[in-house]
Amino acid sequence: VKFVTAIFAGAMVLAGSAAYAQDITGDAEAGEKVFRKCKACHTIEKEQNKVGPHLVGIYGRTAGSVDGYKYSVGLKKFHDEGLVWNVETLTQYLPSPKDMVEKSKMTFKLTKEKEIADVIAYLAHESGE
Ligand code: HEC
Repeated sequence: VKFVTAIFAGAMVLAGSAAYAQDITGDAEAGEKVFRKCKACHTIEKEQNKVGPHLVGIYGRTAGSVDGYKYSVGLKKFHDEGLVWNVETLTQYLPSPKDMVEKSKMTFKLTKEKEIADVIAYLAHESGE
């Protein structure tokens, strides 16, 4: 039994570390409405920064990678570590940026699980996933 459990645990770790498009469970259309909350600080339509960096191609993009945008210490670190924005990392980030990112500059939190899933589906769709 122990052996089987170990294999299962290993498979879960692998599944968790690779977030593929099929992990996207949200509704992109509903997510477009949720994204209105983000628009005060972000655009996903063109490479133009507002309070926050532009989100063109954000799904699958390495954290902290918009040239000329002054990121927090934490996002610069994630950039150097090669952290990529995907279902897993965005699900952790959006409800509480300050808990994930050292000296986070994003003051906004998206707390409803469905809205998080939907907005991720929208970001992925807009990024061509
Ligand atoms: C009040 C302004 C504000 C709002 C609203 C906001 N953000 Fe942000 N966002 C920021 C700022 C500022 C940063 C840069 C954070 C840093 O440097 O720590 C950021 C960074 C990000 C990043 C990381 C970008 C990168 O290049 O690594 C993502 C992803 C993101 N925001 C998604 C969202 C989404 C999705 C929403 C809506 C649900 C949202 N944000 C709402 C201000 C905002």
